[in-house]
Amino acid sequence: MSRKIVVTAALPYANGPIHLGHLVEYIQTDIYVRFLKLKGLDAIYICADDTHGAPIEINARKQGITPEQLIARSYEEHRRDFAGFQVDFDHFHSTNAPENKHFADLIFTRLREKGDIYLKEIELTYCPQCARFLPDRYVMGACPRCGAADQYGDACESCNATYETTELKNAYCSICKTPPVRKSSAHYFFRLSAYADWLRGYIEDNPHFQESIKGYLLYWINSGLKDWDISRDAPYFGFPIVGETDKYYYVWLDAPIGYISSTAKFCADTGRDFAEYWEREGSEIVHFIGKDIIYFHFLFWPAVLKGAGFNLPSKIFVHGFLTVNGEKMSKSRGTFFTARDYLDRLPPDYLRFYYASHLSADPGDLDLDFKHFQDTVNGKLVDNFCNFAYRVFQFTVKNLEGRVLPAAPPQEDKVRDLAAGVLVDYESRNFHHAVRGLLEISDIGNGFFQFAQPWSVLKTDREATLKITSSAIELIKRLAILYSPILPGLSARIFATLGLEKAVLADLETPLAERTLGPSEPLLGRVQDVTFTPPHPASLVHLRVARVVEAGLHPKADKLLVLKLDAGDHQRQIVAGIRACYAPDDLVGRKIVVVANLKPATLRGVESQGMLLAASEGEVISVLAPEAEVGSRLAVGGVETAAAREIGIQDFAAFTIEAREGKVFFNGEPLLAGGVQVSTDRPVTGRVK
Ligand code: 2FM
Ligand code: ZN
Repeated sequence: MSRKIVVTAALPYANGPIHLGHLVEYIQTDIYVRFLKLKGLDAIYICADDTHGAPIEINARKQGITPEQLIARSYEEHRRDFAGFQVDFDHFHSTNAPENKHFADLIFTRLREKGDIYLKEIELTYCPQCARFLPDRYVMGACPRCGAADQYGDACESCNATYETTELKNAYCSICKTPPVRKSSAHYFFRLSAYADWLRGYIEDNPHFQESIKGYLLYWINSGLKDWDISRDAPYFGFPIVGETDKYYYVWLDAPIGYISSTAKFCADTGRDFAEYWEREGSEIVHFIGKDIIYFHFLFWPAVLKGAGFNLPSKIFVHGFLTVNGEKMSKSRGTFFTARDYLDRLPPDYLRFYYASHLSADPGDLDLDFKHFQDTVNGKLVDNFCNFAYRVFQFTVKNLEGRVLPAAPPQEDKVRDLAAGVLVDYESRNFHHAVRGLLEISDIGNGFFQFAQPWSVLKTDREATLKITSSAIELIKRLAILYSPILPGLSARIFATLGLEKAVLADLETPLAERTLGPSEPLLGRVQDVTFTPPHPASLVHLRVARVVEAGLHPKADKLLVLKLDAGDHQRQIVAGIRACYAPDDLVGRKIVVVANLKPATLRGVESQGMLLAASEGEVISVLAPEAEVGSRLAVGGVETAAAREIGIQDFAAFTIEAREGKVFFNGEPLLAGGVQVSTDRPVTGRVK
């Protein structure tokens, strides 16, 4: 039997949703494990929810539920989201499970017996009102450096200073607002300092650790490692320490132990031997992590494993963070997307493909740029691969009864070389290169099909046509196998059409035996719109300042005027129902507001390109009189009315625009032109249309 490989992704905290930032790691790891499996290796993908700690206990209390209820809810949501992204764990466990308690106790006991754990009295921040010790994040006060109020206990968001909680001015407990006190308590410490030399060797000798990361680690080791506080006092949500009642394992002690216990549960469920993964020599343990948790995974964790006699990680791969449109994901900028936000709008394949196209072995950040996302997905995935495959399938079914004969792909040697390169790129986690190679292969397919012109050949030579399509289909089969780590769902659909079971590398160069294609559907459509958040209503409309340059009576309707407008960069004509209150001459030269993205309409024989806005109160009609420059766009609450898409009059009627004593509001917020609230030219109160 081949050696066992256990691959892990960091355990997500159970107190929040999975978001697109998390998914960089889960997708990266998923691609890697699927690749190992494709090669026929005995790899498993292991993960779990990270369920313990003060924030979970405090959040549950706030919500009036138990921590167990809170983590049960997250567990369901997390599993559903991972499944939605085709992230296929062999086991997804919970750190609050009995297996995890077993291993936490076992490891603690072993380390304690060796003398690697000792008790020490320390002084900490305590809230007498809440009767609890306060983690730094729960102590707030004024920054000792710049004086900014309401800063966290460890760092100031205003001036970026970092400090000790005790340095805060006017400190208070963020839960109950009471000033905290200092109080002493006995804590358990892990003797990390004793492992410094061993860790230095472990890190220096490892050929797989990224060089840039090694640099940090050796610097930390050489600066001196402090022993690690691994206990917390009640109230806490976690496992009580063996032999204690009011002391718990610190969440960061039992979280990585979740890697072990989740593997153990997997083994128990599937009849495998746990020792082959974590105890007996010869296994391979691979962790994927973000760059924020390097210290835990390269220093604490290997030392704990070494001390407790478990196998050590042989590879720890660090990746960077996700940025969205070049910036940190942010709720206020509307660029914080949960897995759900995304899945409600787009298929998972797009994000998997986009991430793969940008992932390398380097721990640099990855940017999700919406425009680039759309271009990558449409140009590379959809046009280059999906449309090609579907076109070939359709042609074959329509003209050749779906028949496929054994055939070599076009440019077989070149395709073989490219495929070999793709496998090397998967192995080295340079997925962006793998994608490049895959695109070159589908370029060959597209070029071949276009050049061979089977639709022309078909008119004279059916057998020759069959050779062309069969060759293209052999290429598509190879692509589907090679793409399967990145796009498992898409590959599976292609396989179904081809009548194949599942992707195995051994099938790569064995030509498809004669067969008839199964049904096929278009594989993936183009992305039209990459806005994941519900748009601000103002962004669905385009309101613009325009000047009336000509005004005249409508030839056929006695309530209507026909106006020629200068809208800044263009002219347009509109029809307006304001004749009862305005003569044409009253309007010429005036600035008004026009709805510029309304579908043009013909009113009693005259075309109207948009609509003028006016408020009415009883019989009185009053046009909006903006002060801003001609051609400028109006805005609502900081959001410019900048819709590019046309809307119908019904859509427009869905907004509530009204004047109150001459001041205009859009869905309740002031309507602004040039930053100033727009007024009507007479102080009316009523609806604006
Ligand atoms: O940083 C985090 O999100 C942690 N929940 C990761 C834990 S990884 C492992 F150590 F369990
Ligand atoms: Zn308090």
